[in-house]
Amino acid sequence: MYSTEQQQQLHLLSQQLLKEAAHFTLEEKIRSIRQVINYHDWRYYVLSEPVITDFDYDSLFAQLQQLEKEHPSLITADSPTQRIARGLTNEFESVLHLASMLSLENSYNIGDIEEFNRRVAGLTNTTEVEYCVEPKFDGASIALVYENDLLIRAATRGDGTVGEDITNNAKAIPSIPLAAAFSKFGIYKVELRGEVIITKETFERKNAERIAKGEKAFQNSRNTASGSLRMKDPNEVAQRGLEAILYHISYAVDKDGNHLIATKLQSHFGNIEMLYQCGFKTPLQEMSVCIGPQAVDDFIHTWETKRLTYNIETDGMVVKVNSLKMQQQCGSTSHHPRWAIAYKFAAKQAQSKLLKVEFQVGRTGAVTPVAKIEPVPLAGVTISSISLHNEDFILEKDLLLGDTVIVERAGEVIPYIVGSVPDLRNGSELKIEFPRDCPSCHSPLVKPEEEAIWRCDNVDCPAQTEERAIHFVSKEAMDIDGCGSSTIIEFIQRGFIKNIEDLYRLPYPEILKLEGWKEKSVSNLKAGIEDSKNRPLWRLLNALGIRHVGVTTSKDIAKHITCIFDLEKMSLEDLTNIEGIGPKVAHSIFDFFQNQSNIHLLHELENFGVNTQNRPEDARNKNNKLEGKTFLFTGSLQQFTRDRAKQLVEENGGKLLSGVSANLNYLVVGEDAGSKLTKAQKIPSVVVLTEEEFLGMLE
Ligand code: IVH
Repeated sequence: MYSTEQQQQLHLLSQQLLKEAAHFTLEEKIRSIRQVINYHDWRYYVLSEPVITDFDYDSLFAQLQQLEKEHPSLITADSPTQRIARGLTNEFESVLHLASMLSLENSYNIGDIEEFNRRVAGLTNTTEVEYCVEPKFDGASIALVYENDLLIRAATRGDGTVGEDITNNAKAIPSIPLAAAFSKFGIYKVELRGEVIITKETFERKNAERIAKGEKAFQNSRNTASGSLRMKDPNEVAQRGLEAILYHISYAVDKDGNHLIATKLQSHFGNIEMLYQCGFKTPLQEMSVCIGPQAVDDFIHTWETKRLTYNIETDGMVVKVNSLKMQQQCGSTSHHPRWAIAYKFAAKQAQSKLLKVEFQVGRTGAVTPVAKIEPVPLAGVTISSISLHNEDFILEKDLLLGDTVIVERAGEVIPYIVGSVPDLRNGSELKIEFPRDCPSCHSPLVKPEEEAIWRCDNVDCPAQTEERAIHFVSKEAMDIDGCGSSTIIEFIQRGFIKNIEDLYRLPYPEILKLEGWKEKSVSNLKAGIEDSKNRPLWRLLNALGIRHVGVTTSKDIAKHITCIFDLEKMSLEDLTNIEGIGPKVAHSIFDFFQNQSNIHLLHELENFGVNTQNRPEDARNKNNKLEGKTFLFTGSLQQFTRDRAKQLVEENGGKLLSGVSANLNYLVVGEDAGSKLTKAQKIPSVVVLTEEEFLGMLE
């Protein structure tokens, strides 16, 4: 898409624009900013290899917005600022596709592929047919029309002939170019077909965020993608993390209306290359040209496993005749083209029986139903327990105890109940009663109207105490050595721990008498508990398990207070004034400190000697040398272990990242560093350090 030379020029241009160089005319400046933003969008959304920091990107974008605000006559339809039509509500009018959107015929084995090949060979009078084989993306299909290099329309599939106009929503998908240089290829109007998807990584992240907010988790990425395309507000579409992959050109004409498919455009591979050149995300990297059915089959089999680690959900592969002329010779039925076939992967679904539902109480009191099913092997693991999320999920899926259920591993990892099979019921199935009282302490459960989750509000609830205590002692919180979750569970069962403060009055002589405990383990436990009294304030804050308050928020808050009890006096407004604290988190902290049992707990902890103060030595010890900097370690480290490296970064105020991106400041490389180093070297803002240089930063 961009040559190395062009990329270097655009990089330089970005730097000049960021320095607000004066020698641009207004028009030039606007044009240049648009050019560099489009380039950086391509690096980020198409290649996933950004070469600009978020900060610089945002500042360029803000410059453009400001200039367009001052000179609205200079706004163009393809300006990056026009992706999101503010205040607009979609109507989704019906539109006629330029070429009808057919489906694909399915195949399941080499026999089916051989049969398909025989048909194609017959229809085209060829002996050895050349095929392109590419993944079948599991999302929502979309058709884009570009005219005179501008995106003029996007539509859903609809019934294949008529779809819904979703142009405004498509513009909110950053990997769809608003303008593309088709004219360079002699094309005036073109219709492209592709799939809107959500990557596995984004899907899991979005779901984790939703669950943390008490919202319903999305069920699968395909439905989420197609649902998102029909949302009324393009602003919301932009939040969904959608991406578009384009895999077919269904219509292309030049300025005089001459059709270019199978004349100027000659192969599917060539078309995909051209789309890549025009800045689209395509299956080019994943595609293989195969001659004959055996080569097709061999390539498909490499994907049976590759798909498990591939970041996009695929439900099969698509085999397409490469020559567009031969595609025309094959023609289509009313349902599918005869030049392509889908090969479906064996579904990762299994049947099982729903034996019972357990209701688990989390540390914040959230009650989650968990299905216990007859153990069933699925994609390499045995599944016997599956979260049912909340009461609405059980109702939506129409689940009864004793039902036959279909289990799937969504996102390759999390097992998921697709639904029940009502036809297999014999009448003995029972309704699942969602408890109205806490399964642990029997207090009445409550559910705020706008939430999907029932909660137990009793702070002394034993199930919550168990979860809270496990969190309290964990590595990220008070980091109590010698005290894991099984110890907590045992102590709660024996009545040694009824609330968190009991951790500091454990009956050590009694513990010594228990099976499995020796002098050494008891003294380790005692030392761990003693040690925990001396933790920095943010650890105590995190350990309290306040909803929405994790490590980062705890650190943000700890910087702004001198003692934990300051939070008791703070108003909602005071709390929201702390950098990094939004209204939701502020509410949660406020509620926590209004509750007298929590204040009582904190006084008790203080009486036991647990640090509740923001001590200057915590900041001094850390000396914050790495404050605000991000690190990643790669290769085999010689000077220290991974854990020690992590500790050093965190103790000194730095942050660890899990991957190379423009957000990374330093990549520390040990021996035999691989792809992370290669990737980092392409991002000018990432500094590569040796282990010694890293240690030097701490001195
Ligand atoms: S080609 C006329 N290629 O699968 C042929 N389709 O079950 C156009 N799909 O409706 C389709 N990945 O939404 C093609 N690489 C790919 C695909 C793909 C996913 C979808 C597409 C189609 C459905 C058919």
